[in-house]
Amino acid sequence: MGEVTVDIFDTPSALASAVANQFVHQVRDLQEAGRAPHVVVTGGSTGIAVLRAIRDHADAAFIDWSALHVWWGDERFVAADSADRNDNQAYDALLSRVPVDPSKVHRVPADDGSTEVDAAAAAYAAEITGAFTDRPHFDILMLGVGEEGHTASIFPHSPAAEDDAVACGVRDCPKPPPSRVSMTFGTLALADHVWMMTTGEAKADVVLAVLNGAAAIDIPAAGPRGIKSTTWWIDEAAASRIPNE
Ligand code: 6PG
Repeated sequence: MGEVTVDIFDTPSALASAVANQFVHQVRDLQEAGRAPHVVVTGGSTGIAVLRAIRDHADAAFIDWSALHVWWGDERFVAADSADRNDNQAYDALLSRVPVDPSKVHRVPADDGSTEVDAAAAAYAAEITGAFTDRPHFDILMLGVGEEGHTASIFPHSPAAEDDAVACGVRDCPKPPPSRVSMTFGTLALADHVWMMTTGEAKADVVLAVLNGAAAIDIPAAGPRGIKSTTWWIDEAAASRIPNE
């Protein structure tokens, strides 16, 4: 397991620009090395700001977007056309502005009124396992962090935190909407580089708890670790409880 680093930025927009810069160059390097990268993006204010910053990056045009596989660590289980969906927000922020191949953009099934959230999760799990000849393997995994410590849609002490499927249905989430589909810890562990991204003072206690070694069942954001590296991209406000910050 790779090292954990913490990068602190003055402002959320400086953070978003830095993540975007790293993303553009890392994806480009992987493609130049002959890989077809799989990246996992996330919803939430920081995750969507990062996608917008990628769109605005001067070198974004050098990515072969048509070869990029895009996944979500979690999705809000609402109608396909809902503005609450992480995928629709990602399309607005980035994916509608770059020439992605829709067959490589792996959306989580939506709530069509007749599908149960568990069935949607099982379908997403099958999509994940079916996209790889061997074990699923992601190059970059982006995740946000909730005030109470959730990441993806794994909330503290929730069944999702102990689920050993590839993806699971999540109900009664404290953060609306209440029904979601989430990758589980086992799947989140299959990424080379994990980028935990969060901003704002409301996240400062959680950041401190993670850096102090919290258990993933208590603070799920403490769980994901990249195979090669784990980076906490945080702003000054989120870093404000770290001693000497
Ligand atoms: C979602 C997310 C969720 C999010 C965090 C952080 O669907 O809401 O995927 O895990 O990333 O809640 O969100 P903020 O950056 O808005 O605090």
